[in-house]
Amino acid sequence: MDFKIVGFAPDEMSHDSFLNIIRAPIKLESPRFAEQLEQFCQRCSYVSGHEGGEKSFDVLRTRLEQLGTGKKEQNRLFYMALPPSIFPSMQEGLKKHCYSKRGASRIIHRAFNGVFQIEKPFGHDLESSRELQRALDPNWREDEIFRVDHYLGKEVVNNLLVLRFGNEIFGAIWNARHIDSIEISITEAGGAEGRGSYFNGVGAIRDVMQNHLTQILALLTMERPRSFSADDLCAEKARVLDWMLPIEHLDTIIGQYGKSPDGNKPAFKDEEDVPNDSRCVTFCAAVGHIENERWAGVPFLLKAGKALNESLTEIKINFKPSTNATIFSTRALCSNTMTIRVQPSEGVFLRINTSVPSLTAQQTSAMDLDLTYHGREIPEAYEVLLLDALKGDEARSVRGDELDASWKIWTPLLHYLDDESAGVRPREYAYGSHGPEGLEEFIASHQRKSSEGS
Ligand code: BG6
Repeated sequence: MDFKIVGFAPDEMSHDSFLNIIRAPIKLESPRFAEQLEQFCQRCSYVSGHEGGEKSFDVLRTRLEQLGTGKKEQNRLFYMALPPSIFPSMQEGLKKHCYSKRGASRIIHRAFNGVFQIEKPFGHDLESSRELQRALDPNWREDEIFRVDHYLGKEVVNNLLVLRFGNEIFGAIWNARHIDSIEISITEAGGAEGRGSYFNGVGAIRDVMQNHLTQILALLTMERPRSFSADDLCAEKARVLDWMLPIEHLDTIIGQYGKSPDGNKPAFKDEEDVPNDSRCVTFCAAVGHIENERWAGVPFLLKAGKALNESLTEIKINFKPSTNATIFSTRALCSNTMTIRVQPSEGVFLRINTSVPSLTAQQTSAMDLDLTYHGREIPEAYEVLLLDALKGDEARSVRGDELDASWKIWTPLLHYLDDESAGVRPREYAYGSHGPEGLEEFIASHQRKSSEGS
């Protein structure tokens, strides 16, 4: 693939300084990598938009045209890491001045995720997300827009489709008749160090639950798509999210981390630019319900938080307990559970009952079947998603209607928590703990009464 990369920002910067920014984070594990990195750098250059407005776009257009000299076609992919406030004028300028007249143009919106970060998700509630969408509408077709949710580039998340639709045995039991409850959690051992100001304006729900966690939920619960094309996949994800009821504040428990018990790890409020009275949610556990025929009655426990006891992204499918326990002398069988570990160390495990070798009566014990697939090196999520965008494959991009459906689920809760007059304060939990006090009771009270013994 022949490609060139042009960096564009308001800063004035020499070509060499730009290349040094590219080189800095890359670990060179062998001399061969050093050679490859230099070959890559030869494809990169920088133009400064310091003049602002139309003039900046002219400078960018001139560079893009120079790079395309002599080529019949030139496809352009604009990768935007910008705060939402700048995003509308930027995309408009790109469309007006830099859209490719000899090939395809595509735009990637990735929320700004750097030192000057203001807001990460696409919008901060349903209405603002729709506003951003309206700003895009006159300029770009839906198939020219790639909304990045990097969880969709993770291997185990992709594997959900194969597990569910490629295996008859799982497909047949994937419903409320056989499944008791589903848990999805994204817990992180690190806090918001160095990102306090960004995180304070966003909180855990907007940071990972409205997007990453909701996307996992959609892939787990959607109906079988007609095909794996972007249109069919996104339509089914949006449909199941539409069936999900907005999360009620009574069905949540929220927290904010304080110092670690030994005082070595800072409280969230110790971060720079985080006010002392911050009500930012750094932990949330919520229970959701999907009111369609397949899922009615199944509680979905969704959990995300920073500064917890471990970093773990995991899905747990808790199947109903067996009704056969009475025929075993121990009268105890575990409930089957499928654990899908997204990270660290990707894996799929199925908990089953098995007999314990013995000369006496039938003894049972629970064991985990390891369904982990080994072998190939797993690509980075961003490698996967950027390549998709270059190829124009939108199956792992988030479509506008999915985004809308997911904001509908979370917006009422977010508004309730944002409302100063409601005065809701997150419960403090210690850095490095399991989360706020009361979490275990909260989870137990939302579990279906039939789950036991696992
Ligand atoms: C990002 C959030 O989108 O996802 C971060 O802004 C979070 O706060 C990160 O830490 C988690 O991603 P991963 O790939 O490390 O699980």
